[in-house]
Amino acid sequence: MCGIIGFIGRDKCIPKIIHGLEALEYRGYDSAGIAYFKDGKIETIKEEGKIANLKKLLNFNEDAYNGIGHTRWATHGEANKTNAHPHTVGKFTIVHNGIIENYSELKNELINKGYKFKSATDTEVACATFDDIYKEEKDILKTLHIASQKFRGSYAFGILCSDDTSTLYAMRNTSPLIVASAAYGNFIASDVPAILEFTNKYILLDDYEIAKIESDKITVYDKDLQVINKKINTFAGTFAAAAKNGYEHFMLKEIHEQDKVFSDTINFYFDGTIDSLEKNFSFLKKFSKIDIVACGSAYHTGLVGKSLIEEYANTPVNVEVASEYRYKKCFYDKNTLVILVSQSGETADTLAALRKAKEDGITTMAIVNVIGSSIAREAEHVIYIKAGCEIAVATTKAYLAQLAIFSLLAIYLGYQNKCIKEDELAKIFTDLEKMPKLIKDTIANYESYFNIADKIYQNKQIFFIGRGIDYALSMEGSLKLKEISYINSVAYQAGELKHGTISLIEKNTPVIAIATDKNLIEKTISNIKEVKARGAYVIYVSNEEPKEDFYDEFIKITKIHPLLESILTIIPLQLLAYKVAKNNKCDIDKPRNLAKSVTVE
Ligand code: F6R
Repeated sequence: MCGIIGFIGRDKCIPKIIHGLEALEYRGYDSAGIAYFKDGKIETIKEEGKIANLKKLLNFNEDAYNGIGHTRWATHGEANKTNAHPHTVGKFTIVHNGIIENYSELKNELINKGYKFKSATDTEVACATFDDIYKEEKDILKTLHIASQKFRGSYAFGILCSDDTSTLYAMRNTSPLIVASAAYGNFIASDVPAILEFTNKYILLDDYEIAKIESDKITVYDKDLQVINKKINTFAGTFAAAAKNGYEHFMLKEIHEQDKVFSDTINFYFDGTIDSLEKNFSFLKKFSKIDIVACGSAYHTGLVGKSLIEEYANTPVNVEVASEYRYKKCFYDKNTLVILVSQSGETADTLAALRKAKEDGITTMAIVNVIGSSIAREAEHVIYIKAGCEIAVATTKAYLAQLAIFSLLAIYLGYQNKCIKEDELAKIFTDLEKMPKLIKDTIANYESYFNIADKIYQNKQIFFIGRGIDYALSMEGSLKLKEISYINSVAYQAGELKHGTISLIEKNTPVIAIATDKNLIEKTISNIKEVKARGAYVIYVSNEEPKEDFYDEFIKITKIHPLLESILTIIPLQLLAYKVAKNNKCDIDKPRNLAKSVTVE
């Protein structure tokens, strides 16, 4: 989604801003722009499409030391040069992430005051709002403060005012923003990766805070415009993850990292004993109900989590899409734990669901990858997955790490609730140890999945079917395939197909049928036969060798304790999607219209 970077200091700003924008490129965008002070005046250059297009228009040697840059993912108004950021109105030039929800109301007021607008964006309206207030107040900080009270919605702003050439301003509400310091100057950025090349020291701005950033000084003001002291964080990792290490795509690299991601995640909470789980998860004991809330793939991990926790811990779990949950009537109470799942920790709907639960006095727990992200900071309990930086827009390793956490939670709760007995626990622990190697072996088998992909990649639609936990996995397999290959794909509960959808099955329509739950395999096979009889090309994914001839291709999943099996089952589906997309020459790491971190609702 949109990215922000700004720099003020003794070094030239354009190379730093462009470097920062390139570090944020993986998040997805459709135009880019930059604004900087040159000879006391603000120059703005922007272009549709990739940063490479913008770079052609820039002089990297320009004597410019204070500037802001932006990659835009269109929300209000199509992706073109006019709507690209930065926007300028009067004395203000700004870049913006988020959505100003009351922008049309503000726009009408401003039009009545004589303002004219060039773009279709809410950002230009925000910019005019600053300019309008400033005419009255003649004080930049007061202007930003008053504007923050007028805006409804989410924002992170980088702001230049032509009356103050030696300062860069920043403010936020809901959308993330950091201020970072280096020996030769200071930065603002929407995300840590944008500044990691230059510094790992940064401040997280909180909602309604305003930062005044000079070459050698950072001052942060709270919502009452009082100066406050902020903690300086140090980012421990590097952005080395941003290299493909010989892989053709980040997605492929990240799939291959999954054995390590699994070990890192599990080993962080589990040392081979139930005591380690007790130490990390004992707070879970007091809840008799769980709501899991998330979006997209994170929602799909929640569905697998539900299956595992209900089956092995006998605790009822309700899984909801965050964009629905945040507006619906919730029947939670003090015995309910609300679990938010988010790789980025910044997904606007998931964050809003978290805030809603907190406002209602419900205990929250987040499963998050990005350390220090908004969801991680605001949830009462946080469980970090150890996936490292995920660059490909389509999640793979973070999804697998989330599954690993749900397996651990189900093991712990199952044992606590006396559903898992000592001998079964011992078996599960033994299988946990085998997992990294099994994950590696499953990935190493990629050629067999690629061969299947080569046979189906030209189809216009591909179905996934499964029952129970296998349906949850089907949903993720289907999402992975459609988001990167643009082939229409839908996942169905295997028994549901005949209630309508089976009419879409024609000769050679690929149907990927997942059947790993031993209690449901026979039922799923009956449903597979129904589609096979109508000409479907069946790709059967199971941990049991098929005894009859109802399939065209077979993907064997290694049998392991069912609490862990979904972690193996998803891997061939990821690799299948990857190869189908590759054969179709799709932009695998940056699929069209998608963004890595969805910070708007
Ligand atoms: C799909 C994908 C998305 C995300 C979703 C939630 O491959 O990555 O569906 O899972 O946008 O994002 P996070 O996990 O950052 O909240």
